This record gives sequence, structure tokens and C-alpha cells, in this order.
Amino acid sequence: MRYPRDFMKPLAIGAPQPLAEIAVRPTRMIHFLPPHLPNLRAKVPDMLPQVDALLCNLEDAIPTESKDEAREGVIEVARDNDFGQTQLWTRINSLDSPWFLDDVMRLVPAVGDKLDVMMIPKVEGPQDIHFVDQLLAQLEAKYQLQRPLMLHAILETAAGVSNVEEIAAASPRMQGVSLGPADLAASRRMKTTRVGGGHPSYLVRTDPDPDDADAPRVTAQQDLWHYTLARMVDACNAAGILPFYGPFGAIDDPLACEDQFRASFLLGCVGAWSLHPSQIAIAKRVFSPDPDEVKFASRIIEAMPDGSGVVMLDGKMQDDATYKQAQVMVNTAKLIAERDPEYAELYGFEG
Ligand code: GLV
Ligand code: MG
Repeated sequence: MRYPRDFMKPLAIGAPQPLAEIAVRPTRMIHFLPPHLPNLRAKVPDMLPQVDALLCNLEDAIPTESKDEAREGVIEVARDNDFGQTQLWTRINSLDSPWFLDDVMRLVPAVGDKLDVMMIPKVEGPQDIHFVDQLLAQLEAKYQLQRPLMLHAILETAAGVSNVEEIAAASPRMQGVSLGPADLAASRRMKTTRVGGGHPSYLVRTDPDPDDADAPRVTAQQDLWHYTLARMVDACNAAGILPFYGPFGAIDDPLACEDQFRASFLLGCVGAWSLHPSQIAIAKRVFSPDPDEVKFASRIIEAMPDGSGVVMLDGKMQDDATYKQAQVMVNTAKLIAERDPEYAELYGFEG
């Protein structure tokens, strides 16, 4: 057992002070870049103003023979670009891979002061986070980093889902968790080859018509990911960290992508991954609260200046609880407006 006071002590002498709070920065999309490809590295300066976080991917989708080149590519991207307000993330290889140690040992000394978040795939339980936590503290002390690196776990194994509450609370470095529907489907033996989204065979059907056994029966497709997402959102919010939807693989189906992103947004997620430039605009649209809803939320706050009592607005009852809902909406919109002039104007928050 780790005692409460120990959470705020560095895990190695000389390592920076652990973070008491995870700063909430707009992260509507985490855009994935394969850093071994020089033509895509060259596009980073154009990409940075368009995305909230750019992630250099070292794990799945990077060919085995390109793992070293990809790692060096992260260093080039970090050193050669001014990230400004855009976050720099990397997804390193999993703890059971032959590349994890090289990833950490090379990246932390080279660009540890430029990296915001390190994404750890295939996290199975808090023991994985404890291991990386200790290793990073050693490296931060050795290379005199001034701020602790944050960790983000991908929820993509059956064991990980079983342990998600403990994973979210495993370390003050934990910044958030993303759902990884592709690996999770495999780990759970789900019978789908899709990366997120629905499946036409996962449905419920109305009863047969007693007077007409052959009458068509209405069906409704169900959401394969609802249970996991909802559990992940609760685990993250209870631990004070951020939940994300992960990848949506059908690049050719932007409507279904938008639906999947929106379902996760409504449930409490703050962002999703964009695997293709076309998904950046979808994520921006979905994870920026709707301007009309933000205006209504602002009216709730104006109508209840101290947040107590009860008022009616357009026939809807407002009380302490809806006041808090309105605050979530308005505070999210304010953060986005600070970063994104287009939304500042849409929300009427500019100047
Ligand atoms: C993401 O890594 C996934 O497996 O879905
Ligand atoms: Mg995966």
C-alpha cells in the first residue's frame, strides 16, 4: 500500500516534485504522427496550429524495421519545432516489447523537457504504472528535468479494464486514459475486426407479433463500447484525471466517426485520437461544446449567481445540480476559447 503523503514525494532523490493537479488543457484531438516518415515530419509546422496535441507514435503501425528511425524522428520533431500552446505526446512501445527500454532511455534524456505526455499501451494494472513511475523518477533525477513527465494509459486489455480504477489512481503522473478498442476487442475475444464504432449484429429485437409470426420485427443496434467507456470515465473523474475515446478506424466513414466521438463526449470524454487529418475537424466540432448549449449554460449561471435555490428557464427547472452542469459546459468552452479564436468568436468570449 502506498500512503497518501508519499504520493507527493519524488520517487528518486533529485527528481522533480510530483504534480498535485493535472492541468486541464484543451485536448480535443490527439493527432497521431508516424515519426519515421520524413515527408510527414516535414509537415509538422503546418500541423501544429491545427491540433491540440501532436503524438509521435512508436508502437503499433510502426514497422519493426523502422522502430529506431521512428524514435530518432521523435527527437527531431521535438527539437526542430516550436510547439507553442500545442502539446507534444509520444506513444512508446509496451512494457513487454523489446523496444520499451530503448524508447524511455533514449527519449527522456534527449527531449524529456519537451515532452508533455508519454502514452503507455496495453497497461494491465497499477503495477505497470508503478514500474514506469519509478524508472522515470530515476531518469528525471539523473538528467535534472524540472517538471515530471505525465503518463497516459491505453485501456486495451481485459485485465486493464478489470483494474481501470487502480490504474487511474496509480500515480500522480497519471494524466488520463484512452479507450483502445482494437486491442481490447482482441484481448476480450470479441468477434469483430473493426477499430471502434458499432457492429450491425450487436442488436436487440422486439418480440414476435402474436397474430403474425412472419411480421418484420424492429431491431436497434446497441453500443459495444458503452460499458467500458462509462467505467473508464468514472475511474478517471474519481481520480482527477482525463478520459479520452481512442481511435476510430473507418477513415472512409466520417459520419460514424462523428457519432462515436459524440457518444464519448456526451458520456464525459474530453477528446479522441485523430488517425487521419480528416478526423481533426470532426474531433474539433464534437469536443468543443455546442455554442447554443454554452449560451444556455451561461444563462443558468447568470440566473443563479450564488449557485443555490431554484429558477425556471424556458420551462426547465434549474437548481444546484444543473448549475454545476452549466459550469462544466462554460468552463470547458472558456478553455477552448483561450486556445481557439474561431470558437472564442462562436461562444462570444473574445476580447
Ligand atoms: C489502440 O491502440 C487500439 O488498440 O485500439
Ligand atoms: Mg492498441
